[in-house]
Amino acid sequence: MRPLYFENGVLRLIDQTRLPEETIWHECSAYEQVAKAIKDMIIRGAPAIGAAAAYGIVLGMGEVKTKDRTLFVEEVKRIAEEIKSTRPTAVNLFWAADRIVNKVIENSGKSIEEMMEAALAEARQIDEEDVTGNRKIGELGSELIRSGDTILTHCNAGSLATCDYGTALGIVRAAHDAGKQIRVFACETRPYLQGARLTAYELKEDGIPVNVICDNMAGYFMYTRQVNCCIVGADRIASNGDTANKIGTYGIAVLAKENNIPFYIAAPVSTIDFRISCGTQIPIEERDAREVTHIRGFRIVPDGVNVRNPAFDVTPNRYITAIITDMGILYPPFSESIGRLKERLHGGGA
Ligand code: MRU
Repeated sequence: MRPLYFENGVLRLIDQTRLPEETIWHECSAYEQVAKAIKDMIIRGAPAIGAAAAYGIVLGMGEVKTKDRTLFVEEVKRIAEEIKSTRPTAVNLFWAADRIVNKVIENSGKSIEEMMEAALAEARQIDEEDVTGNRKIGELGSELIRSGDTILTHCNAGSLATCDYGTALGIVRAAHDAGKQIRVFACETRPYLQGARLTAYELKEDGIPVNVICDNMAGYFMYTRQVNCCIVGADRIASNGDTANKIGTYGIAVLAKENNIPFYIAAPVSTIDFRISCGTQIPIEERDAREVTHIRGFRIVPDGVNVRNPAFDVTPNRYITAIITDMGILYPPFSESIGRLKERLHGGGA
């Protein structure tokens, strides 16, 4: 179940605000529409917004009028900055946009058509690498799952949040495909209900047993030994392993440690921000109050009452059992395992 397709100069996105009631494809033919779709969460999930941003910049390149190559590159940078300003927390957005801009700069001695071709090829590569990476995460992570396990997850780290297959749900899929009898507890994930609406939808479609639980039930199910492990995705992982993910993840991680239940992060290496040393440096998006005051258009909070709506929290590394990436499983101490990974990727550079 892919949430996005780029064909004939149009980016088609499954409108995730409408699931599970309706499957509507939202079409973007201009980069401004892609930026708005990311901001409005028509497309969401760290790897998926990265890929959408990459295709969005490609669309924007087609809108640039100048024939001057230097001005063209400047315009591409401006478009990338505009797309990057949509959501602050998931690093994949910045990583993917920078990959496209760097590809354009690398080809800036060539014609504008060639720069555009190179950018589109790079966007397609980001998309394909994500799917391959998720399959690898699934293969590695499923080794940690036993038949009979109940896996608790939060938010949606599935096909819909990636280019396909998913990270946390990639592990669930791989374990299920390997014939393991597993079951998922999907936290509903207030306020946006990614768990109740999207995770439950995906797993039901695939015939994987799932129970939706309210967020405040997680502790009960852990304390009564009805959960064997927790697996969640990530929006940004600092160099010491501190991990930003959907609001509520931190509480689940603390409960897991209290109850001696393994707590795993599943994420591609593109979610690691090697430039930051710890989680306090991760910007946390605060979204519109209406997401809290209303559920599916229905007001549940008295009019005029103030609310807060941080969309993410940071789980300190001490609560994380392992980080399952497409380049291997990382174990504590994370500063060291992530440091070794950085060495493999960049030879120690930035
Ligand atoms: O606000 P969202 O829905 O974009 O938040 C998504 C999450 O927090 C996911 O868990 C994360 O992006 C990982 S998706 C593979």
